[in-house]
Amino acid sequence: MSRLMIKNILSEKIIDVDVTVKGWIRSVRNSKKFSFLVLNDGSCQASLQIIVDEILPNYAQVAGLLTGSAVAITGRLVRGGGKTQVIEMQGRSVEIIGLVDESYPLQKKATSLEFLREQAHLRIRTNTFGAIMRVRHHLAMATHEFFSKRGFFYLNSPIISGVDAEGAGEMFTVSTLASDLTKSPKTKDGKLDFSKDYFGKETFLAVTGQLEGECYAMGLGAIYTFGPTFRSENSNTTRHLSEFWMIEPEVAFADLDEVANLATDYIKFLITYALEHAASELEFLLGREDSTAPKDHLNTLKHVRDSKFMRITYTEAMEILSKVDPAVKKFEYPTTWGSELQTEHERFLAEEHFKMPVIVTDYPKEFKAFYMKQNSDGKTVRAMDILVPGIGEIIGGSQREDDLIKLTNRMNELKMDQEPLWWYLDLRRFGSVPHAGFGLGFERALMYITGVNNIRDVIPFPRTPKNCDF
Ligand code: 4AD
Ligand code: MG
Repeated sequence: MSRLMIKNILSEKIIDVDVTVKGWIRSVRNSKKFSFLVLNDGSCQASLQIIVDEILPNYAQVAGLLTGSAVAITGRLVRGGGKTQVIEMQGRSVEIIGLVDESYPLQKKATSLEFLREQAHLRIRTNTFGAIMRVRHHLAMATHEFFSKRGFFYLNSPIISGVDAEGAGEMFTVSTLASDLTKSPKTKDGKLDFSKDYFGKETFLAVTGQLEGECYAMGLGAIYTFGPTFRSENSNTTRHLSEFWMIEPEVAFADLDEVANLATDYIKFLITYALEHAASELEFLLGREDSTAPKDHLNTLKHVRDSKFMRITYTEAMEILSKVDPAVKKFEYPTTWGSELQTEHERFLAEEHFKMPVIVTDYPKEFKAFYMKQNSDGKTVRAMDILVPGIGEIIGGSQREDDLIKLTNRMNELKMDQEPLWWYLDLRRFGSVPHAGFGLGFERALMYITGVNNIRDVIPFPRTPKNCDF
């Protein structure tokens, strides 16, 4: 008997054949002479309804199956009754593969996302997490398709790194000394002596793959990374993870406008791909009782897909914000030039002012990393952040400083040690070209598209301050 996935049965409308399906019982409803089993195998949002007759030799056991039991069911696929005529199965045999008992935590019908976070090893068996993780898969595939079709090469940047590329000091140290600090070698001033450490120097989990990406863009022309990055920032918010995934394209012979267009096309492609490949997942997630996404979220996404993104400078953004009537919106943080653009500002611009994704460019250099291209005003850099409704920043990027003197001057201003970055400076010594790139936070993009409002729910096993279970 051939075994089929429920996804194939439903999408290829397979009927009038005998097949086997394997999955987990979602519910059992017993009537007088029949039982209705609802089976999900993870392959798609929909479950298959299977009707079993009391003549089944193990009927009593089958009728008593609890939610979560694993079974293999063989039977005939038929067109169901009613208006929908959804395909269902007339079960002929039910093989019980794995039982559950009353202690199975996912018995209750509606389980809150908070509760499921404590059951991260089981939550994938719910409709909600099945939907989220299938969307995650599709957006990963969309990413490879988008960049590959445009001639970008997929680069695996290292995960262990010797530099603080973003200069934010939010790094996890990678060390073999740390396992017993009392016995660890110390320098004369009592600090850990990293020269005795595994790599002979202090090393970290990468906060970005950008600098290595720049090296490879200088030979391959255009690359993108797609990997995990790590930040030890102590932000316990619904938008921050300590371990998150980032997509970082880098393009040689490109300026900021080119990568702003690239980023726009990429976000639109992600939306298009999700609507095409995971429409039932998106609909399911938006229909959840506790969904905080606007009811017309899917229409909004379609509108975003078909519209031009707004593009303003940081200076223009501050002008808009400073003119907002405090009776309409009162900001906690200042909106004068030279103040940081805070999440409340970002969300106001995207959600309330433009009601669209907004690209903000040319930030004061103080807020941005050392490597960004310096503008001729001496105050701002060719940075861009892309802000979206409901979240704020999902992309950070820039044109890179390709002039050796300007770059080293900026590093000196910031009192940065140039030695560990000698190789990065070499890119400006040998065949330097204008280049630019950006980083998209994969989980932020997932939140945006699915409307899920806590970043902990769009990654399989979230890592956040004081939380590294599973
Ligand atoms: O703005 P960021 O820090 O930019 C970079 O790392 C650059 N190297 C990118 C580049 O130009 N190649 O981070 C990029 C994006 C942010 O816009 C945000 O979406 C996401 O990464 N991000 C986080 N996502 C989840 N948790 C965190 N703690 C995040 N920090 C940044
Ligand atoms: Mg940023």
